[in-house]
Amino acid sequence: MQFDTLMIARLRAARHVIVFTGAGVSQESGIPTFRDAMTGLWSNFNPEDLATVEAFTAHPDQVWGWYEWRRKAVMITQPNPAHQAIAAMAAHVPKLTVVTQNVDDLHERAGIQGVIHLHGSLHEPRCSDCGRQYELPAGVPDIEGDGMHVMPPRCNHCGGWVRPGVVWFGEPLPGDTWGQAKEAVRSCDLMFSIGTSAVIYPAAVMPFEAAERGACVIQVNPMPTDLDPVASFNLRGKAGEVMAAIFNAAWGPHER
Ligand code: OAD
Repeated sequence: MQFDTLMIARLRAARHVIVFTGAGVSQESGIPTFRDAMTGLWSNFNPEDLATVEAFTAHPDQVWGWYEWRRKAVMITQPNPAHQAIAAMAAHVPKLTVVTQNVDDLHERAGIQGVIHLHGSLHEPRCSDCGRQYELPAGVPDIEGDGMHVMPPRCNHCGGWVRPGVVWFGEPLPGDTWGQAKEAVRSCDLMFSIGTSAVIYPAAVMPFEAAERGACVIQVNPMPTDLDPVASFNLRGKAGEVMAAIFNAAWGPHER
């Protein structure tokens, strides 16, 4: 894979790199994305049927079951070469911040610390009434098939339904994480936007703002997105292949 030498030079010279990721980064770990026409999660479901407070209130078993199915899928898979190349990069640039829309923990399991999860986490459920965190039983959830109907547990303190610790449509991003992400955008000089359709706001504003502030924006995606016209470099390809090749071009082969 050949890259523009200017792009590699800018990466090697960058002081603060943000890696902004979406579902495409976990795709090569076998986790479906949301908007791919044939295999995306939202191609089989209407998001409003599963990813809203209203859906959870009406059908807690369906919504909890769907998220438990995803949590199981994440727990039985592994970080892929994209997660590994990003983690390896963190050792070579002065500062690297991962800001993800993903609710899995694959960046952490590849070795990144302090990941900013804009849309929350599958692994940190909380009470839908009192907001207290709920400790999930250890191990992979014991659910059959697609787990479509699993009643959520009750809160140990107030008895309310426990809900997934993710951000649903219509909910604000957690203030502290969004504040940290915006702060990072103000100080970065290079941003990767990897595996995101860049259509869900406010998260999607990040690479646009970075470009506006003069940062070098490198997009990695097999498909075009709205970000194409403003990105400094558009790299068409799978995140695992492209990120491993970029790392190699900048710093040579890395240990996996
Ligand atoms: P999408 O499903 O909208 O977009 C995934 C992107 O990844 C698409 O642009 C694909 O072309 C690209 N892609 C697919 N396979 C890839 C691969 N192997 N390597 C690189 N790119 C690949 O997912 P997101 O942009 O993450 O929000 O979606 C944003 C938010 O919308 C999600 O966090 C979720 C969803 O609704 C909530 O649930 C609140």
